Amino acid sequence: MKTVNAFFFLLCASASLAVVVPNLRIRAENNSPSRDPMFQLSADDDFHYELLRILSIAPYEGSDIGEVLVAANKIEPLSMLSWSKSFDELATRMGKVAEGIDSSKYPISARNAHFKAATYYRAADFFLHGDWSDPNINTFWDKQTASFNAALKLMTIPGKRVTLRSKGDQFKVPAIYYSSGSSEPRPTIIMCNGYDGAQEEMYHVFGQAALQRNINIITYEGPGQPTVRREQNIGFIPDWEKAASPVIDYALTLKNVDPKSIAVLGYSLGGYLATRVAAFDHRVAAVIAIDGIYDYGKTLTDNLTPELMELYKGGKKDEFDYILNTHYLNNQSIPTSARWALQQGLWSFKTHSLYDYYKLSEAYNLTGLTDKVQAKVFVGDAENDIYFPGQAKALAAHLGNKATLYEFKANEGAGAHCAVGSNIYLNQVILDWFDGVLKNKNGK
Ligand SMILES: *[C@@H]1O[C@H](CO)[C@@H](O)[C@H](O)[C@H]1NC(C)=O
Ligand SMILES: *[C@@H]1O[C@H](CO)[C@@H](O)[C@H](O)[C@H]1NC(C)=O
Repeated sequence: MKTVNAFFFLLCASASLAVVVPNLRIRAENNSPSRDPMFQLSADDDFHYELLRILSIAPYEGSDIGEVLVAANKIEPLSMLSWSKSFDELATRMGKVAEGIDSSKYPISARNAHFKAATYYRAADFFLHGDWSDPNINTFWDKQTASFNAALKLMTIPGKRVTLRSKGDQFKVPAIYYSSGSSEPRPTIIMCNGYDGAQEEMYHVFGQAALQRNINIITYEGPGQPTVRREQNIGFIPDWEKAASPVIDYALTLKNVDPKSIAVLGYSLGGYLATRVAAFDHRVAAVIAIDGIYDYGKTLTDNLTPELMELYKGGKKDEFDYILNTHYLNNQSIPTSARWALQQGLWSFKTHSLYDYYKLSEAYNLTGLTDKVQAKVFVGDAENDIYFPGQAKALAAHLGNKATLYEFKANEGAGAHCAVGSNIYLNQVILDWFDGVLKNKNGK
């Protein structure tokens, strides 16, 4: 769910590169993760962040703290392989635990274990996308899906998978509907993940918290996201309304969905995707952008050195790719966050050229679209967001009085991108805000 701000890391973390690669300049450190007031779970910033993300769903049946910390202890900084191995081990063990529970006698225990196994298989997959031919990209995913499906069936009201057709019938949209169980029409949140996350994760991050408040949930995935990328071989598209509007159509066929109380929520890059949907689809009463993004392409090019920027602007694709491939993408010594971000960009946008990936990213902006948004928009802004600094404020400024800008603070444990680590607090803030928006709108 985070995304690239590769060059920020590259350039502040590797002073020695100045010598090796004379045309890359080193930028000043101004936002060092070492200023984070939080205890660090790994000497590798990126592993710290991803571990925090997994721990953060523990309150919502997504993980258990002790076993994640045991897995964490086997991970070597900079070694994506050690991360994958450690989580595969934990996932495999948890899968066996889940299978070993008689679910007819102990449905809750079996469900808990299946959900955890699914989370750990997603984690095992997370750092593998640098090699598209790695068979584990699919085998781990099949196992996460099977584990998650086993858990879905054991819910008090089972989550229901549906496959919708995109606008223009260009691709299929996998979705899961979680009913609040209410017989009255209820508010509904339609949610998507971002650059690197699955709809299954969304259930734990926001879904369960919303269901606790009697709000219906529909999660879905579009192009570039885990299942669509794998099964339909389609990379990200900027015109996300093609994926989301059919989900809204579907919601309107459900009898306990109140048509006047629909929100769209997007996580990380989803902050752009969801806001964009509201520009095109006015059936949406509220948008929840965690966090706000106004111009994604700019977050990439902002971190290019003047030399690389010149190559980029001049359309020097081969030179640009050569430098990035040689010194960064294929360099196992650069910070994990940077290498992973480039790998994930190529995989999820489905291109082998970083130049092309940067070019494709330019279209992910809301210029000229914020005026078309009619809904109220919650714009999350993490104080120490190292991926998208300034983007939430830019989005809120363009939206004007439609926006509620909310800063999640580092010293409250919520300053990381998407307030990872503080999901209970995050849900408190956004779900109470959504309730307030509906009460105002419906005059209650
Ligand atoms: C790889 O990264 C390390 C650490 O940033 C750097 O010292 C080294 O010069 C890089 N190698 C190349 C070929 O750029
Ligand atoms: C914003 O996206 C549009 C395509 O939707 C593109 O034509 C434009 O160049 C982008 N703007 C910037 C500043 O990248």
